[in-house]
Amino acid sequence: MNFTKKITLATLFQILFFGQIFSQNSPENFNIIPRPISISPKPGEFILNAETLIFSPKNSDWQNAVEQLVSVFQPSTGFQFSAQVLKKELSLARGNAIYFIEDESVKHPEGYQLEVQTDKIYVRARSAAGAFYAVQTLRQLFPPEINSPDLQANMVWKTPCCLIDDAPRFSWRGMHLDVGRHFFEVDFIKKYIDQLAAHKMNVFHWHLTEDQGWRIEIQKYPKLQTVAACRNETLLGIYSDSPERYDGQKYCGFYTREQIKEVLEYAKKRFVTVVPEIELPGHAQAALSAFPELGCTGGPYLAATKWGVFHEVFCAGNEKTFEFLENVLDEVAKIFPGQYIHIGGDECPKSRWRECPKCQKRMKDNRLKDEHELQSYFIRRVEKMLTKRGKKVIGWDEILEGGLAPTAAVMSWRGTEGGIAAAKQHHEVVMTPTSHCYFDYYQSDPDSEPLAIGGFLPIEKVYSYEPVPAELTADEAKYIIGTQGNLWSEYIPNPEKVEYMVWPRACATAEIAWSAKNLKDFGDFSRRLVGHFEMMKAMKINFSKAFFDVSAEFLDGKINLKSNAVGAEIRYTTDGSEPRRDDKVFSKPFVLEAKMRDFKTIRAAVFQNGEKSGKTFTQTYQLSLSTGKPYTLSKQPEKYTGGEKYALTNGISGSFKKWNLWVANEGADLDPTIDLGTEQKISRLTTHFVNARDAWIYPPRSLEVFVSDDGKTFKSIARREFSGEKFADNAVERVVLDLPEGTLARFVQVVATNFGKIPPGSAGEGNASWLFLDEIVIE
Ligand code: ACM
Ligand code: ZN
Repeated sequence: MNFTKKITLATLFQILFFGQIFSQNSPENFNIIPRPISISPKPGEFILNAETLIFSPKNSDWQNAVEQLVSVFQPSTGFQFSAQVLKKELSLARGNAIYFIEDESVKHPEGYQLEVQTDKIYVRARSAAGAFYAVQTLRQLFPPEINSPDLQANMVWKTPCCLIDDAPRFSWRGMHLDVGRHFFEVDFIKKYIDQLAAHKMNVFHWHLTEDQGWRIEIQKYPKLQTVAACRNETLLGIYSDSPERYDGQKYCGFYTREQIKEVLEYAKKRFVTVVPEIELPGHAQAALSAFPELGCTGGPYLAATKWGVFHEVFCAGNEKTFEFLENVLDEVAKIFPGQYIHIGGDECPKSRWRECPKCQKRMKDNRLKDEHELQSYFIRRVEKMLTKRGKKVIGWDEILEGGLAPTAAVMSWRGTEGGIAAAKQHHEVVMTPTSHCYFDYYQSDPDSEPLAIGGFLPIEKVYSYEPVPAELTADEAKYIIGTQGNLWSEYIPNPEKVEYMVWPRACATAEIAWSAKNLKDFGDFSRRLVGHFEMMKAMKINFSKAFFDVSAEFLDGKINLKSNAVGAEIRYTTDGSEPRRDDKVFSKPFVLEAKMRDFKTIRAAVFQNGEKSGKTFTQTYQLSLSTGKPYTLSKQPEKYTGGEKYALTNGISGSFKKWNLWVANEGADLDPTIDLGTEQKISRLTTHFVNARDAWIYPPRSLEVFVSDDGKTFKSIARREFSGEKFADNAVERVVLDLPEGTLARFVQVVATNFGKIPPGSAGEGNASWLFLDEIVIE
């Protein structure tokens, strides 16, 4: 039957029997992100017009919520709203009006109730923040064009009638922005805050100081502006490129005190708390360039021109360091009204402290047993400076090392362990693990994406995050105050790219942070997201459309093609040609037919109404006896899982750009046992590992191959030792092991032994090293 006709008949049916409007108000027509606690659709609609009145309580906080509504709706509708103070004696019955009402019966301080009737909208909240969030919901009820900064002609501004009850799950719903590696002008900072607020996020974590630049004016120290705010040039390409190339352009930028105040005022009106970060004791090379006497060696230093972790840090033995930081933090604490000041604490190499007589004396005088305790001493002193000024310290999870400062809150980034440990010690925690919250990672196939730092974090993975670790008791869980997304800007030179990396992934973070846990549903989120894209378009956000991209995985030896878009039509080819609207539609996993060691390329894309929606997925597979075969590991990787169940046998090798394809363990071996299904004659095994010592990734000590016919008794058939072998740095190493002639096996185990602790003098010394392995090709 003709599809259009079917709709028409169905619609007619609804008009006759239920009334057309009511049918439109089904929950599927609401695209609100983050998802509210409850939406009850009601019959009818409210139409906003030039005569719509707005009434609100008198106090200035509430005026901010109203002002937000007016500032968003006025440019697009062209209506000159006039907000009036709601007087006690005024009846709430006056038509075509929006009423903001203080209501103690709304339990949550940030909660709200939004009631849309045919001629009135009631916003009820306990506090102005709740009213502000109701406004953000209203923005998503009207046609998305209402969010445009430009006048929209010929629109009927209507919203379906409904009753919405809503409140946030967490009090910290954050987004971070690194302005050290690249600097972003105030106008963009404001736009960024607008974008966060529209998603009911309430913390902007402003990463203001870095090795590559100090970005906040400190009036006591003008050299922070004239010297530390500049670097001589900037690295081109990716960190590991060899030889290194630089742009030769001086790069400067900082925010004046006036600009900071302007941002703070702007954020306050949007109920966003700005948390400034002043990095210490590490990531301080730009500060040292202005004040070399604060480093252990006395310099000279220059603001860094490339990315990474640098050895030059604040000297912990020099009293002048603490005097400097106290003066800096005094100004910071006076300017920023929020409760929290972020003091960094991450990635502080201890090599200079170890060689510095002042630092060593400090350790001796204070009976500190190692440099981790010296870092703890450092943080505790800084904590005191801030508590004295009525502030709370928050720092990255390294501040746990050597003992947590008594009142410090922890931002858990290297994983969840730091957050778990801090919560168990009854310290507040914000969860932001790299695995789910780092938006500088790739969001789709790196080959099809603009340059990023590495990693792989598609939106479905962001959405899958649960911020409260299962390891915590209900009491400990209360210390998890929220979650946030982080955006480090090494490879993000302009606002367009910030938006591209952040949106729509931050929509997922907003929902995790705001919405009730039991309402989490990626399918429903995806449906709403497609509608929400229209609002982001109206807001002129340069969001990524990677959501529509296709990906592939092996399922029981067959290729499965996927897209996040609900019910998407995926068309594909296996001959390397660009998929077109008349190519085969993917319906079920298929076998990739090819000869041994042959390469086979799949290309696929989502089509909507005959048009391609996202990018074309392209993947070349190399086929062997192990391709698509299942395997088991004694220690399951956590962070680098290879992206799919059979990552080691999916016919694709990891590369330097595609970190997501590698299978890796930290401080442990990798020992896959592959089941070839039936006994096979095998002659050769090829695999790859990574050697990138600056990134803490080391070659295995040895590789050994075992075979078995029953999966129980194994016999060693080949072994290679790598101890003492030199490998090119920042490179992928290919290893081929020839197996004894005539070997028959069903089960093949490869044991790659971890290098062990990182040796002294190397980046990350003393930590466990990483072992990266990918693709086990058996012939
Ligand atoms: C961090 O990513 N170094 C906190
Ligand atoms: Zn020192």
